[in-house]
Amino acid sequence: MLKIYLSVFCLILLITFYSCKPSMYTPTASLVSASTTLETLIEGRSIYMNKCGECHRLHRPSQYSSSEWRHSVDKMQKRAHITDTEKEMVYQYLIAYPKKKS
Ligand code: HEC
Repeated sequence: MLKIYLSVFCLILLITFYSCKPSMYTPTASLVSASTTLETLIEGRSIYMNKCGECHRLHRPSQYSSSEWRHSVDKMQKRAHITDTEKEMVYQYLIAYPKKKS
C-alpha cells in the first residue's frame, strides 16, 4: 500500500515539476536557415533559458515577430548581462521557430 502512495506522490511531484518549466522547443536541422547553424540555435536556446528567465517567465519564441524580438533582445541585453555574440545567438533561436501566419 505504501508503495502505491509513494508512486502517486512521485508522479505528482514530476507533473508539478514539468508543468512549471515552459516548454522551449529544441532546435532541429530543419529549422536551420542560411543565416544560422544548428550549433548557434542550440547555444541560443541554452543562453535564453539560463539568462532570460531570471526576472520574468520566458516568452515563447512564437509570441513575437522577428522585429519585435530584435527590439526586446536589444533592450534586454544589458539586463541579462550577455555579450553581443550571445545576444545574436538568442535572437537566432527566437526567430528560427516558425511563426503563425498573421
Ligand atoms: C534583470 C531582469 C531581466 C532580465 C535578466 C531579462 N529581462 Fe526581459 N524584462 C524585464 C522587465 C522588468 C520587463 C518589463 C518591461 C520593461 O521594463 O521594459 C521585461 C520585458 C521583456 C519582454 C516583453 C516585451 C518588452 O520588450 O517589454 C520580453 C520579450 C523580454 N523581456 C525578453 C527578455 C529576453 C530575451 C531576455 C534575455 C536576453 C530578458 N528578457 C532578460 C526584465 C528582465
